[in-house]
Amino acid sequence: MTAVTAIVAALHEELSSVLDLMPDEHRQTVAGRDFWLGHLHGHEVVVVLSGIGKVAAATTAALLIDRFKVDRIIFTGVAGGLGDGVKVGDMVVARQFLQHDMDASPIFERHEVPGYGRKRFDADADGSDRLKQACDETAAWVPQGIAPDVLEAHGLHAPQVHEGLLLSGDRFVSTNAESQKLCAELPEALAVEMEGAAFAQVCHDFGVPLAVVRTISDRADDEAHVDFPKFLREVASRYSGVVVDRLLRAWH
Ligand code: ADE
Repeated sequence: MTAVTAIVAALHEELSSVLDLMPDEHRQTVAGRDFWLGHLHGHEVVVVLSGIGKVAAATTAALLIDRFKVDRIIFTGVAGGLGDGVKVGDMVVARQFLQHDMDASPIFERHEVPGYGRKRFDADADGSDRLKQACDETAAWVPQGIAPDVLEAHGLHAPQVHEGLLLSGDRFVSTNAESQKLCAELPEALAVEMEGAAFAQVCHDFGVPLAVVRTISDRADDEAHVDFPKFLREVASRYSGVVVDRLLRAWH
């Protein structure tokens, strides 16, 4: 039997760029979510929007695994950059996940997930290696794939691909004060979003491999609310299709 791959998108724009690559998708609706079943480069795939925030994401992850029997999950979305040199237009491939708003202290250590004895969950090494390769190819495509005026407007010149710690929490981080606090508490953190660590916890429970890429849409600072929608409209929607295309084309 061949593996079933879930492709999870954070945004409608990203979902449509993945569905555009599929010749034969049909929809199944469960728990208010549209799951798109079909093929992509010969792989059996299930494509779905994650939902926003950790609870919505956890439900989507559990349905993909338990109801749709997926064997691996690839997640593509956007995030706010935290790490030094993690710029708008760069990509972050997660190697570890942490819920920055998890705090059951003083019963448990700050950030420890009760019942798991750990603060961090790991990404799947093989899937993340392959995703990194697909992101490198996408970064090389950007200068010819995106119009020069759009590149100029967003200051996108040579996108870089980073790998490391991704933070998730139920908050859109949009002040300098909050992003500085996160950086001070978790200096290894590269980026912050709202779903990845929830997927990682559910994937850990079921033993399903997970790989996540996030394109940086903003710097999680006082300008984030301005940068974020503009970036989504003009750029992010383009990246996901290319990353998924490159990833699944090579994965046999
Ligand atoms: N997704 C994209 N940018 C984000 C931010 N600044 N905070 C949380 N999630 C995000």
